[in-house]
Amino acid sequence: MTESAETYDLILRGAEVLTPNGRQACDVAVSGGRIAGLGDFGGARAAMTLDLEGLTVLPGVIDTQVHFREPGLEHKEDLESGTRAAALGGVVAVFEMPNTKPSTLDAAALEDKLARARGRAWTDHAFFMGSAAENAEALGELERLPGCCGVKIFMGSSTGSLLVEDDETLREVLRCGHRRVAVHCEDEDRLRERLELVRDGADVAMHPEWRDAETALRATRRLLRLSREVGRRVHVLHVTTAEEVTELARHRDIATCEVTPQPLTLAAPECYERLGTLAQMNPPIREARHRAGLWEGVNQGLFDVVGSDHAPHTLEEKGGDYPRTPSGMPGVQTLLPLLLDHHAAGRLTLERLVDLTSAGAQRLYGLVGKGRIAVGYDADFTIVDLKARREITGAWLASKSGWSPFEGMTVTGWPIFTILRGNIVMREDELQSTPIGEPLRFQDTLQPDV
Ligand code: DOR
Repeated sequence: MTESAETYDLILRGAEVLTPNGRQACDVAVSGGRIAGLGDFGGARAAMTLDLEGLTVLPGVIDTQVHFREPGLEHKEDLESGTRAAALGGVVAVFEMPNTKPSTLDAAALEDKLARARGRAWTDHAFFMGSAAENAEALGELERLPGCCGVKIFMGSSTGSLLVEDDETLREVLRCGHRRVAVHCEDEDRLRERLELVRDGADVAMHPEWRDAETALRATRRLLRLSREVGRRVHVLHVTTAEEVTELARHRDIATCEVTPQPLTLAAPECYERLGTLAQMNPPIREARHRAGLWEGVNQGLFDVVGSDHAPHTLEEKGGDYPRTPSGMPGVQTLLPLLLDHHAAGRLTLERLVDLTSAGAQRLYGLVGKGRIAVGYDADFTIVDLKARREITGAWLASKSGWSPFEGMTVTGWPIFTILRGNIVMREDELQSTPIGEPLRFQDTLQPDV
């Protein structure tokens, strides 16, 4: 598209843009919150023009796994602080997990979260429906409610009380509904058998021994077998073992999968020696051979998305004695800086980064109008400086938990603007205006509202 007499709301000028055609030097015009065109808009008029010489425009980053703790655990995080951290980190939309207090198990709990997010969320958002024996039959209806991104299954217990541990219940949950189901794969029986390794107190370096690679692999294999039997598509969350990478490659017709930045960046035993219980998460960070296996999964095109598994706990809670310390670490704000740093180090192409942080989410979950810089799509952009070298500091972090395992790390690559539906939400580490986040829309919801 070339210049026209039309006046646009916004024109992004002079940057390199990651479009469906590849990396292009072009302008992007925005009208009514949507992308009006890509091309040369040099002579066009606009209410606002951003001159972005030297910067790179990515599709708005979508984080498909965050725990924002509201309702019930707001001393760790809430929807305002969690989405604030997201926007500061270049994220335009989040999928939030159901292990809040109460757990998200019915329409009222989902509606409550949507109502709480109204006027307080800095990013667009959707919520997972938790699964349990008691709501299994209703899941087919529940997963299609507006604002719901799908169903989440915990096969192994982690933070909160959600658990679907036996094959019978798992089969039942998989039978009820059609959308892709997101699953935490750790085998609860094996976790129980091995708990004695740490039960009476142990060094946190034992975490990946207790919750070992076999614990994850066994659950993933069970899930794949049942999903094939039932004919239900699944999404394996936060893969941590080299063995699962090999296994999942054989099931691309029914299974997609996620990797998080933590096990791509850290490895045992070093992370436990340096960070102690701050490095404790489920499934655990493992030794370097698994990290190499995960990178192989990235490079082979296995992983579909990167989610942060943002799981904030306070420093006080994390400061207790292992294994009573909670598992999880904040990450929504550092997701993109870490990936940009891996890009700068030559481990990840920018095209692959884009697929993992936006296009993948759109493809997996049937997001409407998000995930690519294309005419007619929402004008969501994460504008980055690929060369900026910045330190991740406590002052920059917005999570209520107030810490990051990556504090003190200097990264190459930084988000400079977060633009949501044509509105500048973050500019140079400062939030702009007010929270304008809205519920995300999906192809499979009951009232698609399109
Ligand atoms: O480490 C984790 N923390 N893994 C999970 O599955 C849950 C999460 C949390 O909510 O704290």
